[in-house]
Amino acid sequence: MHTERIKDLSKLVEPDRVRKEVYTDAEIFEREMARIHETVWIYCGHETQVPKAGDYYTVQIGRQPMIMVRGSNGKVNVLYNRCPHRGNMICGDRKGSTGEFFRCSYHAWTFHLDGKLKNIPMKSAYEGTRYGRNNPDCSMKKAARVENYRGFVFASLAEDGPTLKEFLGKAIVAFDDMCDRAPEGEVEVVPNCFRVIQHSNWKLFLENQLDALHPSVVHQSTGRAAHEVEKMIAKKTKSGEAPLAYHMLSAFATVTIDKWDNFQTINYPYGHCILTGYMGLRPQDPDTLAYDKVMIKAYGKKRFEEIVGVNIHHVLVYPGLSVQSPLQQLRAVRPLGVDRTLTEIWHFRLKGAPEAIYRRSLAYYNLVNSPATLINADDLENFWKCHQGLASDGGDWVSLARHHGRDIEKDGVVESGPRMGTSEAPMRNQMKAWAKYMKEGTRTT
Ligand code: FES
Ligand SMILES: [Fe+2]
Repeated sequence: MHTERIKDLSKLVEPDRVRKEVYTDAEIFEREMARIHETVWIYCGHETQVPKAGDYYTVQIGRQPMIMVRGSNGKVNVLYNRCPHRGNMICGDRKGSTGEFFRCSYHAWTFHLDGKLKNIPMKSAYEGTRYGRNNPDCSMKKAARVENYRGFVFASLAEDGPTLKEFLGKAIVAFDDMCDRAPEGEVEVVPNCFRVIQHSNWKLFLENQLDALHPSVVHQSTGRAAHEVEKMIAKKTKSGEAPLAYHMLSAFATVTIDKWDNFQTINYPYGHCILTGYMGLRPQDPDTLAYDKVMIKAYGKKRFEEIVGVNIHHVLVYPGLSVQSPLQQLRAVRPLGVDRTLTEIWHFRLKGAPEAIYRRSLAYYNLVNSPATLINADDLENFWKCHQGLASDGGDWVSLARHHGRDIEKDGVVESGPRMGTSEAPMRNQMKAWAKYMKEGTRTT
């Protein structure tokens, strides 16, 4: 990429189309990491991943290797995974317990769980030098800002910018909806996550999440096969219905394109988006009825109806999180390179809910979001093919024009038009946010 072109980023994004280099250029990728991922609030993990002091999980924020660790005061800290001595990574494992302090494996400098220097061996060797207890450069560096919302831990590597709540705005509903569905108002993570490396740019994954047109095309064959089996099983059961898990797959065939158009996308500043509508998660089976009973006991009938009435299919927290709150799942997107992206796929238990409700979430996790399912494989194949096509000389632009000009905009919020749920409004909104970030950083709204 020539410096000339990268200087004029405005030429890369138009309201209804985007230049291919946005997805394929390594220099643009570096700038994205600096201006977007290493600046905005990025999801690190859930606090239940690190229940005890000294428990840690490593996580990638942009290009930075970080450690999420439970401190001795119970607070979750996020530190750069780097020793201030000669730069060694402090934690080589993905997760574990470091005990009461960190100890670098190279020359044994030790650090408290908040990153502060604890001890330097052979202290006398540093007498008269700039290195020692009182020099803050001898401690592990912390993420500039860390916030925890209902157990979900986010960090920003920039000193300034909106608070987490300001940043999330209405997209905060993702976490409220997930937690409120728990009789105890909290969720806990189920160890461990699936990790998938996609050979494609990170934005392709995010754009696909709220592309309501693609499921009826990409996942149709899987949906049809599941629907055939579902019908066979339904015939053989007394109730005449197959277990809900079959519906999770068959819906990809039975929810046709025109039905997806009935859903709606609501697009917010910073690139976040909500896709409303859900594929019928309020059946009257005994498991659901048992759950309803526990919930009504915990919240009362009125509040219970409000909670289960929240009508969300997906919440996208740009630039790194896709949440399906009614099924207690989330996918965190960690760009590794311009054509390599890691996704972590997590699911959660609703504290206080019957085991069967957890099993339902687990079924969706395995059947729809896991690397083992054809649903995920079909998406992954398209992401790879998109990236290959975009890297070719076959064209310069990516079209985002579906229902362009029919969006309804009010106070910075853009809704897809009536019966236009398959609109490409979410992709346009993401690219609008992207262009602002790339130009101005986080103070974009
Ligand atoms: S690099 Fe960590 S103690 Fe030397
Ligand atoms: Fe898909």
